[in-house]
Amino acid sequence: MQKSKVGLVGLGVMGQNLTLNMENKGYSVSVYNRTPSKIEEFAQGNAKNKKIKPTYSLEEFMASLERPRRIILLVKAGQPVDDFIEKIIPLMDKGDLIIDGGNSFFKDTIRRNKYLEDKGFLYIGTGISGGEEGALKGPAIMPGGQEEAYKLVQDLFEKISAKTQDNKPCVSYIGPHGAGHYVKMIHNGIEYGDMQLIGECVWTLKKALGLSSEEIAEIIQEWNSQDDVLSSYLIEITADSMKEKVKDKNHSHSLVDVVADITRMKGTGTWTVQSALELLVPIPTITAAVFSREMSQDKDLRLQLSKKLPSYQEQNEKSNKEILIKIAHDALYLAKLSSYAQGMALLQAASKEYQFNLNLKNIVEGWRAGCIIRAQFLDEITKVYQDNPDLLSLLVAPRFLNVVKNNLSKLASFIDLAHKAGVPIPAMDGSFDYILQLGSPTMVSAQVAAIQRDYFGAHGYFKLKSLNNPEMILNKDKQWKEFHTQWMLPGRPEEEWS
Ligand code: 6PG
Repeated sequence: MQKSKVGLVGLGVMGQNLTLNMENKGYSVSVYNRTPSKIEEFAQGNAKNKKIKPTYSLEEFMASLERPRRIILLVKAGQPVDDFIEKIIPLMDKGDLIIDGGNSFFKDTIRRNKYLEDKGFLYIGTGISGGEEGALKGPAIMPGGQEEAYKLVQDLFEKISAKTQDNKPCVSYIGPHGAGHYVKMIHNGIEYGDMQLIGECVWTLKKALGLSSEEIAEIIQEWNSQDDVLSSYLIEITADSMKEKVKDKNHSHSLVDVVADITRMKGTGTWTVQSALELLVPIPTITAAVFSREMSQDKDLRLQLSKKLPSYQEQNEKSNKEILIKIAHDALYLAKLSSYAQGMALLQAASKEYQFNLNLKNIVEGWRAGCIIRAQFLDEITKVYQDNPDLLSLLVAPRFLNVVKNNLSKLASFIDLAHKAGVPIPAMDGSFDYILQLGSPTMVSAQVAAIQRDYFGAHGYFKLKSLNNPEMILNKDKQWKEFHTQWMLPGRPEEEWS
């Protein structure tokens, strides 16, 4: 009997759709799922009369595959991946390849890659973005693993992936072991930031201008027009979903007003923040987005405390609606740019720390279609990294520096407006403060904390060369010279500057 070109384990919606996508592109697929009824249902339903072979045991599944076997795993991230690997190892031959397509934690992927490599097997941990629809019609794919492993799936991935407008497949080899899952994790962190920034914008427009959800949906829809810098999938679906209605006895309501203010999360955003903490890379916008989701889940606490805490809203003079909407648009653009600058900085740091050797241009190029953060704006970022792969920060790329210069005061006005309307906007604040901090040659808050630490713990501090020169005094080895003040010494003489 003819063997299948690929195998897929895990027939959730993503698994089913990816199978249909592969079959549609000419690949025969064997499928397996822990629950046999799921296999049967799929075989009799969408997979009927297609080159899709249902198998009911791992032995049957493995025997049905062409060698070297290519086995895509789409099971729940975490222990289920390890459990499956253990079950399948005795049935594998040297050179077979397992591809984990779930949202696995990148350090787990590094560990699994090594474990399987030591046994002579190949392993790819790949991010797949685009949800159910993407899996079926073309996702963005972010594979990491051995280069020889990638060669075994390159053609398949290029065929099933989304294509950009200039017809480039949204997939490229990301790097070794955990690199693909790391990049997908950052994609999701950026996704969290985008979603939070849009949400804060909606809340502010609602509160400061008294607009209805329906009216805001119309405004946001305009921001998705073709040549608008904000044009993106998330803007599109925000406008679309905010138009959705539900009705009770006599009234029709916007669904978004009826939905509980609780945002759940599966973990990738939190991992992004943990990684940023580990690598000492500030990502305040994404962190604010994760903390806001946590705050949203503290519903009972908020309900109790909101009865006691004062609500804050300043009487503000009626502002011009058109001007405000324009300010909101430009503020959102800069806040988004700041958030992407943070995400890209984290990718650069991780690339060094884990020797991922990431190609930022290829990564951003691969996000231009198929994935959740697809946006017109990514074309610009692609060009930025094409011109300068080692750029210090996205904020200073020539094409973005003007956005920073022109929109910074608008972001400030927007933040002021939101705060006066009593709307919390931690992600906008984070984006704004990130730019201000990076633009500060001297951070006074850090000066204060530095002497506090020396005062209570004799931890030492460094000194500026002069009040007009924010660089540090160096010692004879050209290192920053360390100073300490004898805080506890009564009547100590005034110290020399250097
Ligand atoms: C994607 C999405 C996808 C999924 C997230 C949701 O790129 O297709 O990011 O991976 O929707 O896992 O994440 P949360 O449950 O954490 O919001």
